[in-house]
Amino acid sequence: MKKNKTLKVSIIMGSQSDYKTMQLTGKTLKKIGVSFETKIISAHRTPKRMYEFALSAEKNNIGVIIAGAGGSAHLPGMIAALTSLPVLGVPIESKKLKGLDSLLSIAQMPKGIPVGTLAIGEDGAINAALLAASIIGNSNSVVKKKLNNFRLSQTKSVKKKPK
Ligand code: RP5
Repeated sequence: MKKNKTLKVSIIMGSQSDYKTMQLTGKTLKKIGVSFETKIISAHRTPKRMYEFALSAEKNNIGVIIAGAGGSAHLPGMIAALTSLPVLGVPIESKKLKGLDSLLSIAQMPKGIPVGTLAIGEDGAINAALLAASIIGNSNSVVKKKLNNFRLSQTKSVKKKPK
């Protein structure tokens, strides 16, 4: 990872229909002050766009790629095959199989090309942002501090007794 450089997170998704879930990734990154971009890139509908994005990601100052995809969900794996930047996959909840298809597709990468796989749907979208902030925080003390503050206020918000 490049030191002394402000690295951003790239949030990509296979379809406009994924944005309902993936917007939570952006909202969470915003809370922690991590800069990010958002794009629709489909492995099967826009393969050229995918290829060009992945090959130029590093020189575009991207530190982590978060890829949301549903169904056969090959986008995160294909991106990971094209760049050695960390790729986090968010399995989108699909209509027919409730995202189990997306989860297994993203998690079951054969050895050699890893994709960090998060939970299905909204939890995964939020945790992907927190994990990306944690990775960026290794070389950015401002982000690290904001992430720690976020976690601290989360801890404080948990009541000792149920109402
Ligand atoms: C995947 O196919 C996308 O990531 C999306 O989750 C799924 C369905 O896409 P649409 O048919 O809604 O465009 O590529």
